[in-house]
Amino acid sequence: MTLQLTAPEPKYLPSVRAAIAEYAAAPSEFEIHAVRKMINAAQTDFISYFETVRNESLGINLKPNHVSHTTFWLVDNDKYIGTFDLRHTLTPSLEQVGGHIAYQIRPSEQGKGYAFAGLKLCLEKAHQIGLEKVLITCTQKNLASYAVMHKAILEIGGIEAPHTVINGITERRVWVWTQKRSGKIRPLVIAVIKKENKVLAIPCYDSVKNEKFYRLPGGGIEFGETFEQALKREIKEEIGANIIIGKQLGVFENIFIFNGKQGHEIIIAYEAALPPEYMAQDKIAMIEAEFAGYFYEFTEITPDKRIYPKILRQDKKSSPWRRVFGFSFISTKLLQ
Ligand SMILES: CC(C)(COP(=O)(O)OP(=O)(O)OC[C@H]1O[C@@H](n2cnc3c(N)ncnc32)[C@H](O)[C@@H]1OP(=O)(O)O)[C@@H](O)C(=O)NCCC(=O)NCCS
Repeated sequence: MTLQLTAPEPKYLPSVRAAIAEYAAAPSEFEIHAVRKMINAAQTDFISYFETVRNESLGINLKPNHVSHTTFWLVDNDKYIGTFDLRHTLTPSLEQVGGHIAYQIRPSEQGKGYAFAGLKLCLEKAHQIGLEKVLITCTQKNLASYAVMHKAILEIGGIEAPHTVINGITERRVWVWTQKRSGKIRPLVIAVIKKENKVLAIPCYDSVKNEKFYRLPGGGIEFGETFEQALKREIKEEIGANIIIGKQLGVFENIFIFNGKQGHEIIIAYEAALPPEYMAQDKIAMIEAEFAGYFYEFTEITPDKRIYPKILRQDKKSSPWRRVFGFSFISTKLLQ
């Protein structure tokens, strides 16, 4: 198959008309605007349709509150397969419902992987116009579209965004990267050091999200080091203390966005303590040159505090938080 996303062209019209007959025979609950426009054109004339889609791609004669958008036809050789519509920017309304990309596959070609294949081509187009990530949304009931969005996160990369509820309808939203992001997984060992209902953590700030959060002490495991050797070395380097390591709390994964960049860590967590002279302090100065002026602090664990990795806070029986502190907090908002 020679699959491509192309500008709408007269040579595909016989196939498009056949697809429109399919749409008439099997109307879709989730018809997208770009297909409705195509169906309307079949009843009037395609000449002005071709001109309208060209203009709208260039930002000419846009309807009020509409942004420039490019309509593509997904074709396999000369056969029309579906329509993809790429909005070049978002408006506050599109951020809630609609997103950057809408797609529809003709009924006779659904379930063959075309939506995902077409989406990959559309992500390339989005990348060409300078988008690093795109928002895709669908109603909660649209299981097929959600399956495509979910597959895109898994295979290309992305992140699920909080859903919206508009007029009682729940809209699922995902951000998908327009190019696969490559990076390294970092093995990390951390310490959960408890003092009453407080935990030792360092306050950090994400300037892109404009968000304060806390990170537990620890660091990367070097080649040839055991988990415990790495934790001892890291704590010695950071605050000069000889850490006392207790039981291992488990292995966790942490996939996150910090300052706009994706990170991926495999974390081994230990319950631990510091010598009494350190435990007596509320704030412990970091001595490592690159962290001069920073302090670890025993911070109270409250539901409004973002302490990472978030798995620690999840309300599961196996949650290390529950095992160390005897309680855990869950706040869907804070677990984002
Ligand atoms: C959503 C749509 C584009 C999917 O097209 P498609 O070509 O059938 O999709 P694909 O074949 O690429 O993949 C569909 C995935 O959805 C899954 N799927 C299909 N129908 C499903 C259903 N009813 N429930 C759950 N999953 C479903 C498939 O199993 C497949 O997942 P898999 O690859 O893990 O097996 C198509 O159904 C459509 O045109 N719907 C109408 C318009 C629409 O809803 N557009 C999206 C608006 S946001």
